[in-house]
Amino acid sequence: MKSIAFGTLKGGTGKTTSCFNLAGALALDPNNKILLIDGDPQCNLTNDIGIDCSDMERNNIRTIFDNKKIEPSELIMHGMIEQLPNIDIIPSNILLIKTEMQLVSIAGREKLLANYFERNKDYFSQYTHIIFDTNPNLGVINQNIFYFVNSIILVSDVSLNAIQGAELFTFLWEENIEDLGITNNIKALIINNFDKRINLAKDLQDYYLSEAEFKDILVEIPIPSSVAMKDTSISHLPLVILQPHHQVTTAIKRVVKDLIIREVF
Ligand SMILES: Nc1ncnc2c1ncn2[C@@H]1O[C@H](COP(=O)(O)OP(=O)(O)OP(=O)(O)O)[C@@H](O)[C@H]1O
Ligand SMILES: [Mg+2]
Repeated sequence: MKSIAFGTLKGGTGKTTSCFNLAGALALDPNNKILLIDGDPQCNLTNDIGIDCSDMERNNIRTIFDNKKIEPSELIMHGMIEQLPNIDIIPSNILLIKTEMQLVSIAGREKLLANYFERNKDYFSQYTHIIFDTNPNLGVINQNIFYFVNSIILVSDVSLNAIQGAELFTFLWEENIEDLGITNNIKALIINNFDKRINLAKDLQDYYLSEAEFKDILVEIPIPSSVAMKDTSISHLPLVILQPHHQVTTAIKRVVKDLIIREVF
């Protein structure tokens, strides 16, 4: 089982879109069994897959923090994407923000999620990949996610703010991991929403390749900018299903291949 989280400290770079679409491509291999977990109270991944996250009756990621005894089978939703039955999801909920506030004063608060997975490791071992979406902050819920996962994938778009977001994330997370007693698990950096007509596009890649903390983790195949990617949210289908022959689908598959070689996926 590999665990992965998408993150950075700049909003809107395409974390959720990359998470949904790369997971879709990974799921084309029927040997893979994927659990998506939405760690963002905005619930964008939950919505992308077609679940209403304002439903207060449904179990969701909050339940893990509120009721540590909950069985994993009671949290997970199956078969949301008919064509990819090997993708399951634990949805988010808009009240996750409330859980975040409740956790602030609890001792060992950054390790609650890791403890839950450890206690239920037999159940979760049925998955080849557990993939988290996060929002752009380093609050307690995200710290739990980044602490637990084997690999963090940074997501940048083509903007100076995105470079700053990746640098700030790296800087702050390196400080955090010293306190948490783990080694650096930032294993990849992908560029999304790439449009080579933007003047910054080539310079951005060159910049990342020139920086010690990024040069070895940069996935050199960018995910192009395309309206087709926006359609994936509306149709609740990843691009590999929606438009299997689209040029962006080819790029997504190449990114997945690269991440497999890096042993992130
Ligand atoms: N490759 C792409 N081409 C075109 N549009 C894209 C692409 N990737 C993402 N988008 C669009 O950009 C917007 C932001 O994407 P997304 O929600 O995935 O970002 P995010 O990093 O998850 O945001 P947040 O920080 O709020 O969680 C969305 O409208 C999405 O449809
Ligand atoms: Mg998002």
